[in-house]
Amino acid sequence: MAEKIVLITGATGNLGKATAAAFEAEGARLVLIGSRPESLERAYPDIAPHHLKLAADLTDAEAAAGAVAEAERVCGRIDAVCAIAGAFDMGGAVYEAPPELAERMMRLNVATMVNVVRAAVPGMIARKSGKIVTIGSTAALKGAAGMGAYTASKSAVMRLTESMAAELRGHGINVNCVLPSVIDTPENRAAMPKADFSKWVKPAELAAVIAFLCSDGASAMHGALVPVVGLV
Ligand SMILES: NC(=O)c1ccc[n+]([C@@H]2O[C@H](COP(=O)([O-])OP(=O)(O)OC[C@H]3O[C@@H](n4cnc5c(N)ncnc54)[C@H](OP(=O)(O)O)[C@@H]3O)[C@@H](O)[C@H]2O)c1
Repeated sequence: MAEKIVLITGATGNLGKATAAAFEAEGARLVLIGSRPESLERAYPDIAPHHLKLAADLTDAEAAAGAVAEAERVCGRIDAVCAIAGAFDMGGAVYEAPPELAERMMRLNVATMVNVVRAAVPGMIARKSGKIVTIGSTAALKGAAGMGAYTASKSAVMRLTESMAAELRGHGINVNCVLPSVIDTPENRAAMPKADFSKWVKPAELAAVIAFLCSDGASAMHGALVPVVGLV
């Protein structure tokens, strides 16, 4: 990935930081997007100045397009998009959950991805080259009690990934999706203190798969939904 331009959304989160570290180790130039300047400063206080940090609320299509345009202006192009921004909310039973929940999950998990992809794809089509990785969830392979809004939103990400892969494969663009199970994060450890953390997939293990999907080695992969699950 040396000298590739890699745009990472959710760059301030657990998986985003691990993904940034993986690409930095390979010599890529990073465009790191978080929702707020403070979270970017906290996550990357000392990052090398040739990387770009951008704050944008990616649920807002105009803000997402602005961030992508700024990245293209500064870096000249975007070779890969890792659409990692997202959120989980257990939410409760479908018939009990507040009506806003489903809409919120769709905005945070689906709109953040679609808004960035829509803005980045025209440049990739023009160059006949690009890699896009989205993040689904093994929990969304099937509906489950108590988390309908989340699984519906991640199912949407997975179906949209397949559609985009079919739409863009003829343009030299690979679109694929990584499906984590439970990631070993501080938040998950706090929420499930009795679990066996050693079974959970590590952010760095997911990042390695994301990096592969953005590499030339994955140039024949289109629309794959890749479970990356550790031992769970
Ligand atoms: N954690 C798990 O066990 C698990 C399991 C399966 C799938 N996933 C998925 O994997 C991905 C990463 O998970 P994670 O645990 O690393 O998440 P995380 O630590 O909670 O990070 C979430 C990231 O999304 C960004 N974000 C949230 N709302 C945004 C908005 N409106 N605009 C722009 N950015 C926004 C946050 O930015 P700020 O910090 O700047 O707000 C942060 O960088 C997510 O898509 C998640 O759904 C996670």
